[in-house]
Amino acid sequence: MAVTITPLTDSIGAEVTGVDLSQPVSPETADALRRAFVGRGLLVIRDQTLDAPQYLAATTIFGAPMRQHLDRFNLPDCPDVATISNQEKTKDGKINVRGVSWHTDHSFQPEPPKATALYAVSLPSKGGDTDWAHMGAAYDALPATLRAEIEGLQAVHAYTESRLPPSLTERIAAGEDDASDGVVHPLIRTHPETGRKAIYLNPLRVRRFRGMTPERCADLIDRLVWHTTQPAFTYTHRWRLGDMAIWDNRCCIHRGNPDYDFGELRLLYRVILAGDRPH
Ligand SMILES: [Fe+2]
Repeated sequence: MAVTITPLTDSIGAEVTGVDLSQPVSPETADALRRAFVGRGLLVIRDQTLDAPQYLAATTIFGAPMRQHLDRFNLPDCPDVATISNQEKTKDGKINVRGVSWHTDHSFQPEPPKATALYAVSLPSKGGDTDWAHMGAAYDALPATLRAEIEGLQAVHAYTESRLPPSLTERIAAGEDDASDGVVHPLIRTHPETGRKAIYLNPLRVRRFRGMTPERCADLIDRLVWHTTQPAFTYTHRWRLGDMAIWDNRCCIHRGNPDYDFGELRLLYRVILAGDRPH
C-alpha cells in the first residue's frame, strides 16, 4: 500500500491515504508522517479502523501521550484517550459542547501539549466540521504595524472551567498585573523543530498581555483573531468516519462548529502529546 500525502491548502494541512495505523508502520513511513506533520501543521489521516489502544499507539509516531486533566472524560480502560462528545452535560444538566471558539489546547500549562489528535468514532449526518488556522502563515503575513505592536509581548494564560468563559474585562480584572494565577507565554513563539515563528494566541485563556491596559488588550486580541483566522490561513475539515486528525499546537489554533443536530451523537477520541515550554 503506497502512502500518499497531499497538501490540503497552500498554508495548512495534508491529507494522508494508504496507511493502516492499526499496526506498526515502517520507519520510513513514520519519518514521512512526522515530516509532513511538522511541515504542514495538520494531518488528516483517512480510512482508519482503530480501537482506543491502537489509536493511542498510532499517536506515538508523533510523540509521547500525556494524561488529560479533566479525568471524567478519560476512557477507564485506556485513560490516555479521552472523549469529546456532544452528550456532555454541565452540573445543572445543560448540554456542554467544548471547544467551539478559536483556541489552542491547554495553554494554561507551563509546558502545553505539542500536538492534539482526534479520531472520529461517531458523527452527525451533517455539520460539526473542525476549523484550523496556521499561526506561522498568519505571522508571516502580519502587517508591519501589527507585527511591531506584538513584538516581545508576554501573555498571561489561565484556566477557567465554565461553560461560558468570563468576559475579557472580568479576566483582566481578576488577573491584574501578575501571573500568580496563570502561566506566562510569549505571544510570538519559535517552533523548536522548524525555527519558524508563529503567533501563540488563545482567545479563551489569555487573561492579559503584560504591561498593557485592559482596553488595548481586548482590542489587540480582537484584531489578532480577525487577522489569524482569515481564509488564507485556515482549513475546514468535514469529518468522515475513520478520520484521524493530528495537529501541531505550536503553530495552529482550532475550533469545532456546533452547527449540527444535537440529537445525533458526535463522538471523537482525543489524545494530547507532551510539549516543551514555548520560547
Ligand atoms: Fe481544543
